[in-house]
Formats: sequence, C-alpha cells, structure tokens
Amino acid sequence: MAIKILITSGPTREYIDPVRFISNASSGKMGKALVEAALKQKCEVIVVKGPSAVEIKNTKNCKVIDVISTKDMLSAVKENLKFADIFIGAAAVSDYRPAIVAKNKIKKKNVGSNTITVKLVKNPDIIKYVSLHKKKQVVVGFALETKNLISYAKTKLKEKKLDMIVANDSSTISSKNSAPTLIFKNGNIKKLNLVSKEKVAKEIINESIGIFKTIKTC
Ligand code: C5P
Repeated sequence: MAIKILITSGPTREYIDPVRFISNASSGKMGKALVEAALKQKCEVIVVKGPSAVEIKNTKNCKVIDVISTKDMLSAVKENLKFADIFIGAAAVSDYRPAIVAKNKIKKKNVGSNTITVKLVKNPDIIKYVSLHKKKQVVVGFALETKNLISYAKTKLKEKKLDMIVANDSSTISSKNSAPTLIFKNGNIKKLNLVSKEKVAKEIINESIGIFKTIKTC
C-alpha cells in the first residue's frame, strides 16, 4: 500500500479587514517540491495549501486543499490527519491573527490619530496539535530563524515532539535553493549543501519514509 503524506504548504493570511491581511514572504516552493518528491516515491499526498503563486495540481494521487488562515489550515489538517502516515509541516504559519476582523474596510478618515493599533491573538499551533494526536505517524517540522538557528531548532524539535526538523536560515524564504540542517529526534544531525529545494525535498521525503518504516516495524 502506498505511504500517505499530509503536507502543509505556503503562508497563511490573517485578515484585518476585508482587503488587508497579515502574512509573510513564504512562496510555497518548498511545499510544492515536497509534493513532487513524494509523488515520485509513489506516495499518496494531501496538501493543505495557503495562498501563494505556486500551483499544485489536483491529481489521482494528490489532493489539494486550498485554505486562507491558520484556523482554516488547522481544520483541514484535523479532517485529514487520520489518512496520513507522515505529516510534514512546511507551511510558514502566521503565529498571530487580529483579535477583531473589521466588517468593512478601515477608513483613514475614521481614525482620529496618526497611529492605529491592531490587537493580535495567538493562533493555534498546527504541528503541536498533530504531535499530540498522532498514532504511529511521523511528524516533520521546519524552523527558519535569523539567529541561533540550530539551538532554536533543537528546542522546537523537543517542544513540538517532532521526529525530524529542517532548520533553515532566513535567506531560504522565497529562494530557489536552501542549505538546511536536518535534526533528528535521536540526536543525529545531517547538514545539506546549498542545493535546489527539489533536492532538499527528495532528501526530506526519503528520511521521513525511512523513519516511518522503522516506527511501523516497532
Ligand atoms: O514555531 P515556529 O513557527 O518557528 O515552528 C515552525 C514549525 O511549526 C513549522 O513546521 C510550521 O509549519 C509549524 N507551525 C504550525 N503552526 C503554527 C506555527 C508553526 O504548524 N501555528
């Protein structure tokens, strides 16, 4: 039977009013490369995709679920987690969302001062939810940092109870290439050279399948 992989990809958008939102520069390229690498390994894929220019085709072995916000992404993950042997959280999820979404466009003239304040509330952590509810499933996360990359990534690996984390420096966002460090639950570390995201994806998929096969036989 084909191995089933659930992937989150791209950024999320957190709307402030009907036309403005908080997001980040994630291109969704890594998510797409992971989908393609998984399909090459004859896996079945479900990808929960935040809004980005990258296109991922719905095919027999690849179901694409388009979402906008972190809460939407979590709902789609909750519905589909039971089908997955491997979960890969490649999405650059917005950690916060506006506490109130204005019903109408916020107008300048309605605001009395030169500053406005948007109160933000914490979003749910999707990958933490997955780790808490996983059965015999492999959970892989990403970490992107501007400093202390490896130590922050190791902390995330532990806190989010991941099997593997892909640590990238901030130049990776929107770029075609990356040189990540793969850090494993058992303490192993594998540093990859600067290569295309397609090559990185192949490595991540192969490592994830390897972990899945060991968990399955335990
Ligand atoms: O905490 P941080 O956002 O840096 O962690 C990155 C990892 O956690 C990524 O795999 C990302 O997809 C996942 N994540 C998530 N839900 C969030 C925040 C991050 O699934 N709310």
